[in-house]
Amino acid sequence: IPVDPFDLVIFGATGDLARRKILPGLFRRYCAGQMPEEARIIGAARSEMDDDGFRDLVREAVRKFGGGRDCYDEALEGFLAHVGYEHVDAMGEGGWETLKARLRDGMVRAFYFSVAPSLFGALAERLRGFGLADDDSRVVVEKPFGKDLASARALNSTLAEHFDETQIYRIDHYLGKETVQNLMAVRFGNMLFEPLWNAQFVDHIQITVAETVDVSGRGAYYDTSGAMRDMVQNHLMQLLCLIAMEPPARFEPDSVRDEKLKVIRALDPVDYHHIVRGQYIADEKQPGYRSHVEDPRSTTESFVAMKISISNWRWAGTPFYLRTGKALKSQASEIAVVFKDAPHSIFGPEAGRHANVLVIRLQPNEGMTLGVTIKEPGPGGMRLKDVALDMSFADALGPDAEDIPDAYERLIMDVIRGNQTLFMRGDEVEAAWTWTDPIIEGWQRRGEVPKEYDAGSSGPDDALMLMHRDGRKWRDIK
Ligand code: BG6
Repeated sequence: IPVDPFDLVIFGATGDLARRKILPGLFRRYCAGQMPEEARIIGAARSEMDDDGFRDLVREAVRKFGGGRDCYDEALEGFLAHVGYEHVDAMGEGGWETLKARLRDGMVRAFYFSVAPSLFGALAERLRGFGLADDDSRVVVEKPFGKDLASARALNSTLAEHFDETQIYRIDHYLGKETVQNLMAVRFGNMLFEPLWNAQFVDHIQITVAETVDVSGRGAYYDTSGAMRDMVQNHLMQLLCLIAMEPPARFEPDSVRDEKLKVIRALDPVDYHHIVRGQYIADEKQPGYRSHVEDPRSTTESFVAMKISISNWRWAGTPFYLRTGKALKSQASEIAVVFKDAPHSIFGPEAGRHANVLVIRLQPNEGMTLGVTIKEPGPGGMRLKDVALDMSFADALGPDAEDIPDAYERLIMDVIRGNQTLFMRGDEVEAAWTWTDPIIEGWQRRGEVPKEYDAGSSGPDDALMLMHRDGRKWRDIK
């Protein structure tokens, strides 16, 4: 179903994110028939370029990053007819009047800030000052949304000077992932899980986002950030919220965001004994972290594992273990809900016992597995065995699974539709920083140096110990 006709202006349109994600994503929506005939996409950036120059850039970006759909050159030329470019000086006066002249009345108007956060204020001010944006326009902003609470607050108040909260779309692309949205469908669309989804029945929950990529090529950004700011404060926090939150009354922006906010506010401060920071070092095949960043003595973490507790009625006493890192042995994002043992084994100690584990695989091989205990076959008495009820979305959904839009496609279309459900509200981002800041400050105060781990391994040994001490074990990342 096509969305309403729109004018979408992308600031920073020649940058990496625009070329890798935003423009190819829009092209795929065009191929899916979702882009109305009147839609216009206007790139805006510092570079001097005309429409055709920008179209060449878009053509190249789509060919390189467009990926896996049935879209041919003919479709690409059709898409490019929707695309234009305006050279704009974000900090000055140049280009704003001509950009304004391109915008049409009666269209949804959205401005995507795919630029450094230091430019948000200047852009917002000019959009209003030159009369490009009005009270119905939308602005889309990207992470990093601040580097701590103070900077996030400053960004929020700068944006709030020019736009209402209902006009601001803060992207966390994890929320645009189909499998992440599925967490809500699984929890709140089934009767099966929710009655057991609490401290009484759940022993603990593991959230893993393991990546094989290292930080080469983006060391300058990453070294000022580290895994805590780059992944935990936003993506892992969102996963935690969706897993832990109370059922919202409706799948509507503020219902969902209110519940997520309550989870973040109920997080206990993390004891520093419950956090492990790691940094990868070279193995035979891959260089180490410090050769990917400028500072040869950098102590920025490329891995974090931690034990978190949520002080509320549902979760008091159930630990959540989180881990994420770069240059690990495999790419695996999953959530494992480990249920408690049955209270009593009628089969006696020799039969063995297995806790049920529900694993939701976010990527790759998206799907769900539920570990179920059955009898081991054969005449040898009652011995128990753990087997998997295994579902891969690709098998279960068949050809439909191939049409699943990527996170950015989904989110940009939600902006045009005016649906903020999958975007972060300002108070949510601030609450996440309120929880994160003391952890990072603690590391700085104690001068903490990350534990080394081999590139291509599953992280530092201390991360294993974090669970081991509690008599638990991380699931293996294959
Ligand atoms: C980004 C981080 O937000 O998310 C990257 O800055 C990370 O460091 C990426 O690699 C992970 O996203 P995805 O979609 O590949 O899981």
